[in-house]
Amino acid sequence: MSEVNFNITTTDKVERYQQFLEQIKSCVEGETYEVSLFANVSAALKEVFNFFWVGFYLVKDNQLILGPFQGSMACSTIKFGKGVCGTAWKEKKTQVVPDVDLFPGHIACSSLSRSEIVVPLVVNGEVKAVLDIDSDKLAFFDDIDRVYLEHLADLINKTIYG
Ligand code: SME
Repeated sequence: MSEVNFNITTTDKVERYQQFLEQIKSCVEGETYEVSLFANVSAALKEVFNFFWVGFYLVKDNQLILGPFQGSMACSTIKFGKGVCGTAWKEKKTQVVPDVDLFPGHIACSSLSRSEIVVPLVVNGEVKAVLDIDSDKLAFFDDIDRVYLEHLADLINKTIYG
């Protein structure tokens, strides 16, 4: 992969995601190692959107294990059905959590995290990993984030697991 300079020319959220998705394609094309891809996607999301915490947990040995991320240290394993990440894995469905304190069983890796979105990477009905993004602001994530981060998940799935 050659050097990637993101060129995001708008403050509109939808357009920012569209430009991001278009430009990240060249970063992920041809990548075959999931850890390398997760590392670069985490770095790209941090650079463009400056999320408080962004990273991946991988399904391994019947649990989620911490993968590449950008942000402060986080819990290294999460059990099936536990926390927001374990729930996304169990339900195979994106979780948008406007207030983490109101989510039963939320796992607090940082006391500064206030809201969260977790997108599962589902391939042939099997969850391979989850993309987890935290904000230090309440209700930071909405349906726009869900839709475009699910597009990103599709792109990752086709690249690595397709
Ligand atoms: N809050 C997550 C745990 C991971 S950290 O946010 C990085 C959860 O409840 O699953």
